[in-house]
Amino acid sequence: GPVTAQLVASRVLDVPDFPKSGVIFKDLTPLFADGAVFREVIDGIVAHYGRDSFDVVVGIEARGFVIAAAIAYATGVGVVPVRKAGKLPRPAFNASYALEYGEAVLEVHEDAFAAGQRVLVVDDVLATGGTAAATLDLVSRAGGTVVGFTVLLELSFLAGRDRLAPRPVHALLTV
Ligand code: PRP
Ligand code: MG
Repeated sequence: GPVTAQLVASRVLDVPDFPKSGVIFKDLTPLFADGAVFREVIDGIVAHYGRDSFDVVVGIEARGFVIAAAIAYATGVGVVPVRKAGKLPRPAFNASYALEYGEAVLEVHEDAFAAGQRVLVVDDVLATGGTAAATLDLVSRAGGTVVGFTVLLELSFLAGRDRLAPRPVHALLTV
């Protein structure tokens, strides 16, 4: 609800010209560092989806891991990591996505999901949607059923949501 959006807004720092000139980095470390706010945010996500609506949580390396682990612990489900290339030790599916210059690759273990397992995918920020699109593709290929994608912060001017359509996207705060 609006309280949570305001809470998120109160714990985001805008860092100009990071990691490069012209980019305003959205720093959520103050949110993660505030125990009461972090708990409120996690509880807000769980309340949005409902406790019994997913069987496993996917966290996207690296900042998504923090959120995924907390949701999983709060609801008693497990976590599956979607990792950057070359980190997973066993056979994995991979998906590439565009960066401003060049591309990056994300991976998930081929046997990460039981057939039909309901998967909630989480990350900190939705920007261009490249990271999320690659992840949702990976989860589907690995046999998971994506029931939702949620972020703490959506940057609407980058239109990531349009890129993910028709899949529903939930953001605690959209700017
Ligand atoms: C950031 C952020 C999201 C992604 C959003 O991750 O944490 O995962 O970018 O951008 P997009 O919607 O344009 O794909 P980053 O790749 O910087 O890595 P990190 O999480 O490991 O810090
Ligand atoms: Mg990230």
